[in-house]
Amino acid sequence: METVVSGIRSTGNLHLGNYFGAVKNFVQMQSEYNCFFFIADYHSLTTHPNPANLHQSVRQVLVEYLAAGIDPEKSTIYIQSDVPEVTELYLLLNMNAYMGELQRATSFKDKVRANPNNVNAGLLTYPTLMAADILLHRATKVPVGKDQEQHLEMTRTFGNRFNTMYGNEYFPEPFAFNFGSKLVKVPGLDGKGKMGKSEGEGNAVFLADSPEVIRKKVMRALTDSGPTEANSKKPDYIQNLFDLMKLVSEKDTIKHFDEAWKNCNIRYGDLKKQLAEDMITYLTPVRQKIEDIAADETYLRQVARHGAAKARESAQKTVQEVREIIGIKRF
Ligand code: TRP
Repeated sequence: METVVSGIRSTGNLHLGNYFGAVKNFVQMQSEYNCFFFIADYHSLTTHPNPANLHQSVRQVLVEYLAAGIDPEKSTIYIQSDVPEVTELYLLLNMNAYMGELQRATSFKDKVRANPNNVNAGLLTYPTLMAADILLHRATKVPVGKDQEQHLEMTRTFGNRFNTMYGNEYFPEPFAFNFGSKLVKVPGLDGKGKMGKSEGEGNAVFLADSPEVIRKKVMRALTDSGPTEANSKKPDYIQNLFDLMKLVSEKDTIKHFDEAWKNCNIRYGDLKKQLAEDMITYLTPVRQKIEDIAADETYLRQVARHGAAKARESAQKTVQEVREIIGIKRF
């Protein structure tokens, strides 16, 4: 079985975009690959979160990933800082990661521009830590979005450089990966583009949102006075609502509103009500799981410890072999 690694930053609650765009993909992968999914808490330290918030967001990500169907028996799910071997591999990789290439990384340049007063070494070496995460399990597939392509390319560079330096083929090359060929489009509710947290309040529907909150958000989605010509093309913000329906509604429901659109007798109020109810039906079991899991400290501890033990087994093997290749020997 090929090895898959993906790191999840602890950035708070998951929304439908994360769910359909990433998590469902993870869930599908777990039966066909040897999967490691971890919560990248070391990475989040570049912005100096306060201690209580840090722990809370790590916990929230863990809860929501479990609720969404990542199975700790099939996948290895762990917290990055529970596997200290990653810090050793990070240190070793830093020895042949060059200042110039780190400074040229797009994500580094963006962060320097956004936060000129906090250009720390952790930020500069973010790509080496990410490479260590992936190479630690000698993974070949990394389910991430387009924005991580450059980091993956750097991971291949660091791995290949190590191989060349020591004359072996120890690290395989990892590539970005998506299960199935088509990427699902998950538009936001603001009528503009994709669903995202940074797009402003109300644009994203969170897995943990209550039915009332979902109804409010959906009813506020942008519409207009309706089509005036039969069979016309839908404007983007209307197409977005239909695209969201495709994710949560029955085929017949979509057909019904599509025909109403074509005949110019569509009522957007009805469409949005239906969409909200279908989202609620879809999300209710997930929200209930989130609540149950969040209340179960014992289960969370057990999952985290079990994951850490499995991840460390794989990590210790790699670090031991890397030490031998480098020439670090015990007396
Ligand atoms: N950099 C990734 C992001 O911002 C998170 C991440 C850290 C990651 N380590 C990783 C992703 C290893 C995949 C593999 O989303």
